[in-house]
Amino acid sequence: MEAHQLSFGESSAPNCVEHFDSQQRIVVHQGEALDFLKTLPSESIALVITSPPYNLGKEYERRKDVLSYLQEQEAVIDEVIRVTSPKGSICWQVGNFVEDGEVFPLDIFYYDIFKKKGLKLRNRIIWRYSHGMHMSRRFSGRYETILWFTRGDGYTFHLDPVRVPAKYPGKRHYKGPHKGEPSGNPLGKNPSDFWEVVAHDWEEEVWYIPNVKAAHPEKTIHPCQYPVELAERCVLALTNEDEWVLDPYCGAGSSLIAGIKHGRRVAGCDKEEVYINITRERIRAFFEGRLPLRPLGRQLYQPTGKVARVPIEWEQGAVPHAYGSARPEIT
Ligand SMILES: C[S@@+](CC[C@H](N)C(=O)[O-])C[C@H]1O[C@@H](n2cnc3c(N)ncnc32)[C@H](O)[C@@H]1O
Repeated sequence: MEAHQLSFGESSAPNCVEHFDSQQRIVVHQGEALDFLKTLPSESIALVITSPPYNLGKEYERRKDVLSYLQEQEAVIDEVIRVTSPKGSICWQVGNFVEDGEVFPLDIFYYDIFKKKGLKLRNRIIWRYSHGMHMSRRFSGRYETILWFTRGDGYTFHLDPVRVPAKYPGKRHYKGPHKGEPSGNPLGKNPSDFWEVVAHDWEEEVWYIPNVKAAHPEKTIHPCQYPVELAERCVLALTNEDEWVLDPYCGAGSSLIAGIKHGRRVAGCDKEEVYINITRERIRAFFEGRLPLRPLGRQLYQPTGKVARVPIEWEQGAVPHAYGSARPEIT
């Protein structure tokens, strides 16, 4: 076995290799994103999901002026588009670049880049979280965005695996041909494009994804890690089993864990050895069943009352539903 190959011992888990090989299932590469992307075959990737460096002068980046930063990113985006399959998607997760107190929302700049290259925006997802710096000369920033682009109109999209339980599944049609029948979908409702992270969110019908901070079970030493759950939703909705998920700036490997968890092939790259080692270790821990992960779409608040109850028709087993112990495995 070569030094860079990670074997998972006795388990039936696949090896983790360093160079892209379409026959493999897990590729983890240490190096420059652009160089790595150039080694990938065209149209081979179902989903590129990543949070690129924001040019904030974090320990892994050298801060430059915003135009040079974007120019550099454009070369990476050209490669990202080349490797994405015609039915594929690109999820670009960004926040703000801030210079002398002036805020540059990076998604505004990135939108123009992707749009001029012919991609179509399908959602601009707001990921809201509750932690962060407290500002004194402007309102404290508490959200980032995910721009979800597709190459074409025939893109893969599966809503059922990412539906979330409705707050009031017991609602019924009150008139018309279906009067008296349950009006909701037994598998839950569309999770919307607003993914929030404070405790009362369940009541406000939004997704709950905690920001990855020190108290979070997934936290590593990476300064800008996103939760596995964030990537999981994109993986489940935008890809099929055995397809490739790529994160060219994989950090602590959250996108890769999300893909592996749901039977996708995954490829990740990061220039920092320390993060690549964390990624490999987290993958190993996942296969050994000791990686702490927050469960996908965990319900935080259960309202009470008649319309909060699951309709009896669903409970009787006539239809698979997403509520209670009869919840089907829909991964
Ligand atoms: C925002 S972080 C990604 C965090 C990741 N989503 C996670 O959950 O851990 C960006 C990552 O890009 C890496 N990076 C920065 N410039 C890079 C480059 N030119 N090539 C490859 N990786 C780079 C950094 O080391 C950092 O880990």
